[in-house]
Amino acid sequence: MRLILMGPPGAGKGTQAEKLQKELSIPHISTGDMFRKAIKEETELGKEAKKYLDSGALVPDEITVGIVKERLQEPDCNEGFMLDGFPRTVPQAEALEKTMADLDEKLDAVIYINVPKEKLIERLTGRRVCKNCGATYHVQFNPPKEEGNCDECGGELYQRSDDTVETVENRLNVYLENTRPLIDYYKEKGILKEIDGDQGVDKVFEDIQNYLRRD
Ligand code: AP5
Ligand code: MG
Ligand code: ZN
Repeated sequence: MRLILMGPPGAGKGTQAEKLQKELSIPHISTGDMFRKAIKEETELGKEAKKYLDSGALVPDEITVGIVKERLQEPDCNEGFMLDGFPRTVPQAEALEKTMADLDEKLDAVIYINVPKEKLIERLTGRRVCKNCGATYHVQFNPPKEEGNCDECGGELYQRSDDTVETVENRLNVYLENTRPLIDYYKEKGILKEIDGDQGVDKVFEDIQNYLRRD
C-alpha cells in the first residue's frame, strides 16, 4: 500500500500514521520528523532546515524532494509506505510522481484529513511529543496516563518549538497558500479521499481503515 496522509498542521496526520503503521506494517515517512531529527543531530541538513522550521516556512523543494527520493529507495519501502507532510507543494507532487514512475510504482490513495481552522490552533498549542520515541499526546484531548511522561516508553514529553501561537498562524497560512492546491491536484487524478478529522482519534482511524479496506 502506497499512501499519502494530507491535511493542515494539526489535522492528525502523525497521530493516524502511528496507528496505521501498526496495522499495515509499512514505514511512516514524515518529512517534518526527518528535519527535526537532522536539527537535533546538528547535521548540515539540520542547520539549513532549522531556518525554515523555526518560522513555519517551507524548506525549499529541492532539499525536501532530495531526502524523500533517497528514503523511498530504501528496501523497507519496497512493499509500500505512508507519506506524512509530503508533498506540500505542486512541484513536490510532480517530483514524487516522477520518482515513483521511475521505480515502477503507483499511489493507492491520498487521505485528506479535514479539520476546521479554529480547532487546529488548540490542537497544536496543546500538543506534547515524546523526546524518546516521538509518540504524540495532547494535554486535553489525548493526555498521557502520567503527566509529562510517555505511555509507550516513559520518555519525557516536550512542546515543539513551532507550536507557539504566532508560528502556528504562519504555518496555517503557508498551508492555505502552498499545500491546499494539492487537494484539487489529487482530486483530478481520482485518488483523493476526504476524511472528517473533526471527530475522536479512534473514529477518524476507523473511517480511514474502512476506506482502505473497501472493495
Ligand atoms: P510537520 O512536522 O509535517 O508539521 P505539520 O504539517 O505542520 O503537521 P503537524 O505535525 O503539526 O500536525 P499533524 O497533522 O501531524 O497532527 P498530530 O497528529 O501531531 O512539518 C513541520 C515543518 O517542517 C514545516 O512547518 C516545514 O517547515 C517543514 N516541512 C515538513 N515537510 C515539508 C515539506 N514537504 N516541504 C517543505 N517543508 C516541510 O496532532 C496534533 C495534535 O492534535 C496532537 O496533540 C494530537 O494529540 C491531537 N489530535 C490528533 N488527532 C486528534 C483528534 N481526532 N481529536 C482531538 N485531538 C487530536
Ligand atoms: Mg505531524
Ligand atoms: Zn515515548
